[in-house]
Amino acid sequence: MRKKAGDTVLKYVDVHSHILHHMDDGPEHLETALRILEEEYRQNVETVIVTPHFKDYERTSIDRFLDRRARRVAEIKEAAKNQGIQIPEIRMGAEVFLSCDLSEVEGIEKLAIEGTRYILVEMPYTAWNDWMFDSLYALMAQTNLIPVIAHIERYGNVDRKKIEKLSNMDVYFQINADSLLERGYKQVALKMIRQNLIQFMGSDVHNLASRPSRLEEGYRILTKKISGEFAHYINVNGHLLLDDHYVEKYSGSYHKMAPKRLFSRLFG
Ligand SMILES: [Fe+2]
Repeated sequence: MRKKAGDTVLKYVDVHSHILHHMDDGPEHLETALRILEEEYRQNVETVIVTPHFKDYERTSIDRFLDRRARRVAEIKEAAKNQGIQIPEIRMGAEVFLSCDLSEVEGIEKLAIEGTRYILVEMPYTAWNDWMFDSLYALMAQTNLIPVIAHIERYGNVDRKKIEKLSNMDVYFQINADSLLERGYKQVALKMIRQNLIQFMGSDVHNLASRPSRLEEGYRILTKKISGEFAHYINVNGHLLLDDHYVEKYSGSYHKMAPKRLFSRLFG
């Protein structure tokens, strides 16, 4: 987000990240975790929500998972302090893989983003079946949690009607900043944004090499391809989520229209 004279810059919130060492498919070493956080700080990220993968079919107990997560975060904070490194604030979360009886998993609400009712949920990569919708409904009804579906643009092969059905439930959609920079996902992500389907953006950072954080760059693309107003909306939503506030789905019109639509409106 570009600063105008007199503006105070609203720093970013990274709502989806894998930075904890020895936790999932994130970095192997504590030093890498620190470098990732340093880089996020450089990109004007104020708060990083750490969201290691949680898959209940792996039979990991939630308490063991939370304990490991807390220890990794404590190690990172201590190392940053000892080395005099400035890093963003860290909030705990998880990326929870959807299973058919997720609402029944003992202590599932402990996987919500710290201090909130929002929970980051990863959908299966197979065809979407009724049980997935039922499971999300049950989760919302029985636990009062609010699902945020991770990197929805990655499900481009899913029937559009099913994406819309999911959007019409009270769930939210998140895109990866990276997807706005990659040919394969960029058009899908932009199309979903133009259909008012997206409320959040995260880096989904895993390491420094193949999957680094490019959150700042993602915001630059949002501003350029959609509008500064929309980039601001997405950024504010990250802050609202942290405060456990209600996030309104975007219903505004975009300043910048897709070139084709603009052309047909002018000359069609
Ligand atoms: Fe992820």
